[in-house]
Amino acid sequence: MMKSAFLYFASFFIVIFVYAQSEVGAWGAVKSTPLNSPGLVYIDSSLDFANNDTMVYQGDKSRPYALVAGGSKGIGYAISEALAKRGYNLILIARHTDSLNAAKNKLESIYHIHVETLPYDLSLDSSATQIADWCTQRDIPLKMLCNVAGFGGARDYLSLPLDTLRYMINLNIGSAISLTLTLLPLLEKNAPSYILNVGSMAGFAPIPVKNMYSATKSAVVFFSYSLKYQLKEKNISVSVLCPGPVFTKPEIKKDTKEKLGWIGMKMAVSPERVGEIAVRETLNKKLVIVPGTLAKFMAFLIRFLPRRWIVSIYNKAGKK
Ligand SMILES: NC(=O)c1ccc[n+]([C@@H]2O[C@H](COP(=O)([O-])OP(=O)(O)OC[C@H]3O[C@@H](n4cnc5c(N)ncnc54)[C@H](OP(=O)(O)O)[C@@H]3O)[C@@H](O)[C@H]2O)c1
Repeated sequence: MMKSAFLYFASFFIVIFVYAQSEVGAWGAVKSTPLNSPGLVYIDSSLDFANNDTMVYQGDKSRPYALVAGGSKGIGYAISEALAKRGYNLILIARHTDSLNAAKNKLESIYHIHVETLPYDLSLDSSATQIADWCTQRDIPLKMLCNVAGFGGARDYLSLPLDTLRYMINLNIGSAISLTLTLLPLLEKNAPSYILNVGSMAGFAPIPVKNMYSATKSAVVFFSYSLKYQLKEKNISVSVLCPGPVFTKPEIKKDTKEKLGWIGMKMAVSPERVGEIAVRETLNKKLVIVPGTLAKFMAFLIRFLPRRWIVSIYNKAGKK
């Protein structure tokens, strides 16, 4: 009797959650299609080659730096803003220079910090090494690395071409492991330091309709768990942010209001709040960060109920 009531209760919430995600498309959140950019076109103006041996960095090294991969928009921008409020200088990575420049101008004028912008496609193998080289050559006092950029959306495995699935893997997990490894020496040099990876609640259990997205996000969660222990002795703390729906685009909010009414609105957490909680809890060295009370409750159910129940509920809900 107790077991049935519990299962009923759990199923109810999970069905609502899955409905919200699949209808509104907030799971993956990053709806843009991959840019087939040939690589980076970046003109480096911050190095002054006074003579052949010296590189003089013209930025501001009086404050610690945080690098936010995917920091120009959405949750990444909110994380950047929460860091700026705390006096961090920033290095923002994204593909489009217009939104990078907009973020830089806003953050510099409000918070009086220094912001560097590096336009890179993080799904490309070469990007992490080039970004790390840029930071190392300038001996950036890097205190925090935030791996935020990710790709998901309404379509997933069996309905996406192989190159798009590869792009998803490269961006969601590949860029996080590459940036972490290549920037580790700088993080170690500036320890105590922090790594914040952005997973998702979709990473807590397999979701058939979001197969690759949930697989890549669970890889981010597992990677973060293990890395926390691997880097303990180096005094580098590791956190993983696992949000539910976040209204990073107007259409997500509009659809949620129309289709889910108050339940959808209750489940969602604003990007600003997600950013603030993420940074606060990262600095508190919390391992798994789930913003929002209802999302926390959902995360508890999804993580602790038997996996075969959850995947079956997700499967049924996904076919509605
Ligand atoms: N929103 C949600 O409901 C939600 C829920 C759970 C988890 N998440 C996760 O949170 C993260 C951020 O989501 P969001 O909704 O804030 O996304 P968003 O608003 O679309 O912002 C994504 C950011 O990443 C950058 N980016 C995307 N692809 C990139 C690439 N290939 N190379 C370099 N930069 C790239 C974007 O800039 P450019 O487009 O200029 O490159 C932008 O700065 C993702 O990992 C997502 O899976 C989101």
